[in-house]
Amino acid sequence: MRGTCKNRDVSSTVVVTRKPPGTAIERIREVATVWVWPFDRPIDDEELHRRAPGARGIYCMLTDRIDRALLRTAPHLEVVSTMAVGVDNIDIEACEEFGVAVGHTPDVLTESTADLAWAILMAASRRLPEGIEAVRSGGWGEWDPEGLLGLDVSGTVLGVIGMGRIGRAVVERAQGFDMRVQYVSRRPIDVPATRVIMKELLATSDHVLVAVPLTADTRGLIGRAELSAMQPTANLVNISRGPVVDTDALVDALTSGTIRCAALDVTDPEPIPADHPLVSLANCLIVPHIGSATLRARTAMADLAADNLIAALLGDPMPAPYRADPP
Ligand code: GLV
Ligand code: GLV
Repeated sequence: MRGTCKNRDVSSTVVVTRKPPGTAIERIREVATVWVWPFDRPIDDEELHRRAPGARGIYCMLTDRIDRALLRTAPHLEVVSTMAVGVDNIDIEACEEFGVAVGHTPDVLTESTADLAWAILMAASRRLPEGIEAVRSGGWGEWDPEGLLGLDVSGTVLGVIGMGRIGRAVVERAQGFDMRVQYVSRRPIDVPATRVIMKELLATSDHVLVAVPLTADTRGLIGRAELSAMQPTANLVNISRGPVVDTDALVDALTSGTIRCAALDVTDPEPIPADHPLVSLANCLIVPHIGSATLRARTAMADLAADNLIAALLGDPMPAPYRADPP
């Protein structure tokens, strides 16, 4: 690490790329001079590049690209602390090379994100968006014995791809729905679920839930072949990162009936334009990356990101350093 000496140098500059909830900024101000991007949108890449050369710390969001080019311009940088669990926006290898510590926010968002996974899994299965739209648009006719027939959740088979913290929290929820759970993961995990190979998971799951981090290995993990291997009655749920699923292949699979429906908290591109073909599909539920969007979870993430940053600046161990250890 570049600066491991204990100091409370108030002249050190921290760049905060977006205002977080709670008191995180005030706490960072106690140990450093803080500059905060003042707008209610992600920081401009240009502005980030203008600020990085003077920064000892960057407190960033998942929307910011912390790449090698940026790190090269930041000779004083000691820590990148992201208010997220996922670090796919950060060049971890380059950070290691340049001696920049990386902190992230696992655990504090696990339950909220698993709740959201469950909410969209159920909402897509039971066609809630179509039902809500029918009511709003005056399309609620007489009760229909064959109206809005959806997929069961209780008693079905759930396939989880990636058994990290969030995957495990989803498995806990599935117990209450009497589901048989199977998963793919690099190594066996102690969960009430059966480890299977991908091919078997895809062919035999009623709901396929993607919970892997985005890495070079998982980019495009769910493409045409994988979607074709799923059952025509299956539901695909993505709560990880958009690029884990091939968007064009998903549009085709949902249009042609290769799979029944999809529930997405993340998309590629993100945000997805309102006129994108995926958005108009009645059998595709999309919410705008809100997995951790509860006041409790986001405040806890903001605080943990501040704790990480402050610890690194003071030369103390971070409470949640990022460790490359994919599930
Ligand atoms: C959200 O997607 C996160 O990585 O925290
Ligand atoms: C995130 O916390 C994960 O490991 O799934």
